[in-house]
Amino acid sequence: MKFGSTEISIIKGDITKETVDAIVTAANNALAGGGGVDSAVHKAGGPAIMAELRQIVSQIKKCPTGEAVITAAGRLKASHVIHAVGPVYAGGKKNEAELLENAYYNSLVLAKEYGATTIAFPAISTGAYGYPLPEAASIALKTCAQYCREFSHFKELRFVLFSDEALGAFQAAAQELNGA
Ligand code: APR
Repeated sequence: MKFGSTEISIIKGDITKETVDAIVTAANNALAGGGGVDSAVHKAGGPAIMAELRQIVSQIKKCPTGEAVITAAGRLKASHVIHAVGPVYAGGKKNEAELLENAYYNSLVLAKEYGATTIAFPAISTGAYGYPLPEAASIALKTCAQYCREFSHFKELRFVLFSDEALGAFQAAAQELNGA
């Protein structure tokens, strides 16, 4: 589906296999790696990514929730990895929606700054951080669609979902966004 001049697509797959300019991963405040998509990205990209993150952490100490940092992508087919920190879901009363929106928005800002025009996103916060998929999918798509209506920089934003449940949640959120 098109928003402005940007194609927003939703597929099932392993994000580390995608050929795009920038791959977004779901990181933590310490940028220390972990499980889930972040583990897959570090494994596929190799140790150069963590080495660069350590340098960044030595300067900024930590990445606040809702913000993101960017590194090269090591052995991945992408040129950059954007490490976005989504919120831990705590029932919805701790500003999680805005923080999740910020994580997507700040990833897009960084991608633009570094000249990426095709970007692959996972469903940030919906694994270890427990964000309910329907709400998270809706926030992810709304934030990206709104950005693309406003700015025409990106060719494609691709949501790469790891499970049928996540795929279904994003497809439902897309239908809702299109008024279907
Ligand atoms: N490709 C695409 N999506 C994936 C992949 C993959 N290879 N592996 C896992 N996922 C999906 C999960 O199914 C989930 O829907 O990514 C989504 C986000 O899950 P997590 O990776 O657990 O991320 P998050 O919930 O944001 O938690 C972040 O987990 O591992 C740690 O370092 C990470 O501490 C941070 C926390």
